[in-house]
Amino acid sequence: MSYANSTIPESAQQCVHRHLPRLVARHAREPFRKPFAEYNRRAIDVALEGWDGHAGLILDAGCGVAHSTIAIARAHPQAWVIGVDQSADRLERRKPYPSSMMPANMVLVRADLVDFWRLLAARDLRLSRHYILYPNPWPKIGHLGRRWHAHPVFPILPRLGGTLELRTNWRVYVEEFALALGLLLGYEPRWEGYDGGEGLTPFERKYRDSGQALYRLSVSLGDVALDGDGRAVHASGQCHGESHE
Ligand SMILES: C[S@@+](CC[C@H](N)C(=O)[O-])C[C@H]1O[C@@H](n2cnc3c(N)ncnc32)[C@H](O)[C@@H]1O
Repeated sequence: MSYANSTIPESAQQCVHRHLPRLVARHAREPFRKPFAEYNRRAIDVALEGWDGHAGLILDAGCGVAHSTIAIARAHPQAWVIGVDQSADRLERRKPYPSSMMPANMVLVRADLVDFWRLLAARDLRLSRHYILYPNPWPKIGHLGRRWHAHPVFPILPRLGGTLELRTNWRVYVEEFALALGLLLGYEPRWEGYDGGEGLTPFERKYRDSGQALYRLSVSLGDVALDGDGRAVHASGQCHGESHE
């Protein structure tokens, strides 16, 4: 497929999966106890090595080749920015700047987010900003459980606080993400159409230049506490963005 000719995910699923609410409720009820892999424990140590313990923490979750991590670190020079991806190949790909010009306030680590998110929560750390930019959509109906909002790790995300931003080119994904987050928070965050003007990531640029509709959900989670069932007991957060339709 040529660069500016990418297509939106094709799926037999045209709206929110009917099993999603049940799945989210189950994940909120039942703590996810999968043991941490050793390489992820090491990755979080590496990710926090350069942090002074005071700067705001920003996570670029699934950062791919990390162009977004670099841009975010430049835009927030006072913050400590962590780019996480499971693909060493993507992380190592050539960056748009020579290493001497890379921002000093960022680090890239290879880790599985399923563990990395839980390790952040286990250390009681809070993020100031949290980006999930163009996650793999897993559009097949039978792949619901692979989408982040339907994964057992999802109830951890509100616990990490901060401003959480999701961007995707699949409308169903943002609708489901908002619904799942809403079930945990007690209010459904709004999402909006987005023109991709920023071109923050290679996927965003490719989709934008193919003329696709893009979607963005941004919600300020504040400092969220969850009850034993994984639901928010108080959320000082607010929704950002315009109402969707
Ligand atoms: C579609 S790409 C988007 C990359 C980048 N955010 C962008 O917009 O250009 C999704 C990325 O998520 C990463 N990813 C998927 N599952 C992951 C996991 N469990 N842990 C860490 N990274 C993961 C993939 O390796 C891939 O780089």
